[in-house]
Amino acid sequence: MSFDLLLPTRIIFGRGKIEQISECRTYGNKALIVTGKYSSKKSGLLEKVLEILDNCTIPYVIYDEVISNPDCISVDKGVKVSTENRCNMVIALGGGSAIDTAKGIAVGSVELSPIWDFLRPDSRKRSIRGALPIIAVPTTSGTGSEVNGAAVIQNNEIGFKPSFKSIYTFPRLSIIDPEFMTTMDRSVTASTGVDAFCQALECFIGVKANEVSNIYALESIKLSYKYLKKAYDDGNNIEAREKMALAAMLSGLAMASSGTSLVHALEHPLSGRYNITHGVGLAALLPSFIEFSFKYNEEKYKKIASILRGKEVEALEIHTIIEEFLKSVGLKLRLRDLKIKEEDINILAKDTIMTLTGSIKNFNKPINEDDCKMIYKMAL
Ligand SMILES: [Fe+2]
Repeated sequence: MSFDLLLPTRIIFGRGKIEQISECRTYGNKALIVTGKYSSKKSGLLEKVLEILDNCTIPYVIYDEVISNPDCISVDKGVKVSTENRCNMVIALGGGSAIDTAKGIAVGSVELSPIWDFLRPDSRKRSIRGALPIIAVPTTSGTGSEVNGAAVIQNNEIGFKPSFKSIYTFPRLSIIDPEFMTTMDRSVTASTGVDAFCQALECFIGVKANEVSNIYALESIKLSYKYLKKAYDDGNNIEAREKMALAAMLSGLAMASSGTSLVHALEHPLSGRYNITHGVGLAALLPSFIEFSFKYNEEKYKKIASILRGKEVEALEIHTIIEEFLKSVGLKLRLRDLKIKEEDINILAKDTIMTLTGSIKNFNKPINEDDCKMIYKMAL
């Protein structure tokens, strides 16, 4: 048995725990709050956070230019705001996009160079040597970014969506308050929940899976399967929100030791080039990935299917389970429903090989462009 596990994030989990955002003063004395333009304002969540910071006289500056697929431009702009205002910690308020943007800004504010330097897929790529302390307050339950060191930031000029991972970009503190998640609408609930489900499944199937990541991954899969539809049907079902927040967190912890595999590797070129919602792209690819990977992982699929059915079933049952699961949250779809055409597949396959190289390697056999084309075609 062997594994590599780094968990430096303090996690405060529970209803109403947002009050403990005041503890950010341990990490800095002026915060850059990184959030989106609309949802955290409309939902009142930003106001709530500001009220707590005001009450304990922690100064802050707001950067509200987070976009749904974060890009280098929005990160570099945030770095400018952070450095001009001499902020020495970053508070992310929002979904994975806000947390990933905050991670990029935290790196750029210390390194003082464009974030692209840490993402580029060539020999000029630089290693991250530091970042401002990051405090994450997730308002969706999906990416698991609140508990790991990874961030996805795309370069819109070339439609390329890589990620970085570093020990410096684990949030120091994550406040996971399920009450903050009741404001998510149905489509965000579904797509972020499918993201958590895929991450956990890929971590379990991947060759980097280990005794510890499996515990996180299997529990996460179980929770998403049981509670995502409940949260989707009734956004105010706080128990379902709580369990989905836990599912997302556990998938993030699984990723900190195992990692995502081909569903994520094949999805990033889709959202990178066509601005497709991450979880929606994953939903379109997942059934074909399972078909492709089945012969290498029959025992693992049997285990997942048996856990989800609550009795021993054949491995093949996984196909029905996945179909039912995606259908239950309105995400049973194909790539052509997302306007992907057969002629797009060559370039997507090329991108896949270059983008999430760690995820490509987290599979039973070396993956080449032809394998990628095959899965895309199966999903078309
Ligand atoms: Fe993801």
